[in-house]
Amino acid sequence: MHSHPEAADTLIVGAQLYDGTGAPPVERDVAIRDGRIVAIGNLSNWLAEEVIEANGRALAPGFIDVHTHDDTHVIQSPQMLPKITQGVTTVIVGNCGISASPVSLKGDPPDPMNLLGERDAFQYPTFAAYVEAVNAARPAVNVGALIGHTALRSNQMDRLDRAATAEEIDGMRAQLEEALANGALGLSSGLAYGSAFSAPTEEVMALAEPLAAAGALYTTHMRTEFDAILDAMDEAYRVGRHAHVPVVISHLKCAGPSNWGRSEEVLKSLEGARRMQPIGCDCYPYNRSSSTLDLKQVTGDIDITITWSEPHPEMAGKLVKEIAAEWGVTQQEAGKRLQPAGAVYHNMSEDDVRRILSHPATMVGSDGLPNDPLPHPRLWGAFPRVLGHYARDAKLLPLEEAVRKMTSLSAHRFGLAQRGEVHIGYHADLVLFDPARVRDAATFENPQQAADGIDAVWVNGVLTYRDGAVTGERAGHFVARGAASKGDAHGAF
Ligand code: ZN
Ligand code: CU
Repeated sequence: MHSHPEAADTLIVGAQLYDGTGAPPVERDVAIRDGRIVAIGNLSNWLAEEVIEANGRALAPGFIDVHTHDDTHVIQSPQMLPKITQGVTTVIVGNCGISASPVSLKGDPPDPMNLLGERDAFQYPTFAAYVEAVNAARPAVNVGALIGHTALRSNQMDRLDRAATAEEIDGMRAQLEEALANGALGLSSGLAYGSAFSAPTEEVMALAEPLAAAGALYTTHMRTEFDAILDAMDEAYRVGRHAHVPVVISHLKCAGPSNWGRSEEVLKSLEGARRMQPIGCDCYPYNRSSSTLDLKQVTGDIDITITWSEPHPEMAGKLVKEIAAEWGVTQQEAGKRLQPAGAVYHNMSEDDVRRILSHPATMVGSDGLPNDPLPHPRLWGAFPRVLGHYARDAKLLPLEEAVRKMTSLSAHRFGLAQRGEVHIGYHADLVLFDPARVRDAATFENPQQAADGIDAVWVNGVLTYRDGAVTGERAGHFVARGAASKGDAHGAF
């Protein structure tokens, strides 16, 4: 045996290692070299350019935000502060049927594509052009991408309030296939929105057909999360069975007071389907949702906070009912006058949120809206809120299970190879945090607040955030769909 020490770029010493698999923590040192994890164990005989004393804090795989609308943000604000400050090292963009590419707009972006930016933010007629722009921006986090059904509809159709014709579906499929060939992770839909609601299930089924050959998946913001949610879930299962692809139900929730308390029934449906086909879901840890202002939801039975309004920006932060009273009009009329606008809907029950979040099939995704001037706090707080508020304080789930829902489960489902676990040979995406202090600081009133207790974040082996400040290094890049490292994509469900 040689006695000379092994060498690493970075050595993290004395950590409680949460490896991402859900296993309980163990004390370990971790060595990083050339962007990879090269050793795990007692590494006291190792040398490194930089040694970080973990002092018993938690070391975990960098968190994967599976549900984002960061499509243009990763290019325009590549430091990605809302995410890197949470320990997020990979974001998946293109959710809810809306993606920044491939897109060729004829006018202003249709609702809700306007969540991704104004007309001039859409500069990527092909997916390859988007990949190039992401890599040129050198974002702080890695970027995986879904292709939005609504984005494809808007490319191919003169109006969105009807079903696509066979020719239009062919056009959409060709664009989807270009994206899949360039590493897109799959197809997303946003069937609840007016821009896709007229698409029959058959349209989505036909569009989903090329996914299987590419090893890609289908994610869906379902046709409804209100009273007919079980039918909407059946529709999602049907698309998955038709196209032989895994399905992820986005931000699973029981929306609307008449639906509260139904999470048990909803999860039973999910479990039944999981016996037949690969299906999971994501959820954000809050009992309020957020999107553009939808007049159909302005019914007076829940509070709705306005976060932005093009004609009335001064109304941000106020409830629709307060604005209606101030103007002396009905809430519906106030909603009309505020359009286009963004909103936070007080539309879930806390019990349902907890039951869905703690289910083993549920991944954590923020659904944060980075272009909103008064964003839902999930943008800056989702991951530390699960670790601090729900795992530590409310004891809803063990910390190692919370970490699994943000790391290995997510990497396996979305086909992100060699990420999501602290494992020799894997990419060195890592987060060091203090389990006693980690907490979300973002609130509805003051949402743009960095979390507490996130001590250090490495992306591809590069220290990117430490002690509350960015280092100035940015080492993220586009990540293509890869073969799952252990088992196949189906087995991972
Ligand atoms: Zn959505
Ligand atoms: Cu979304």
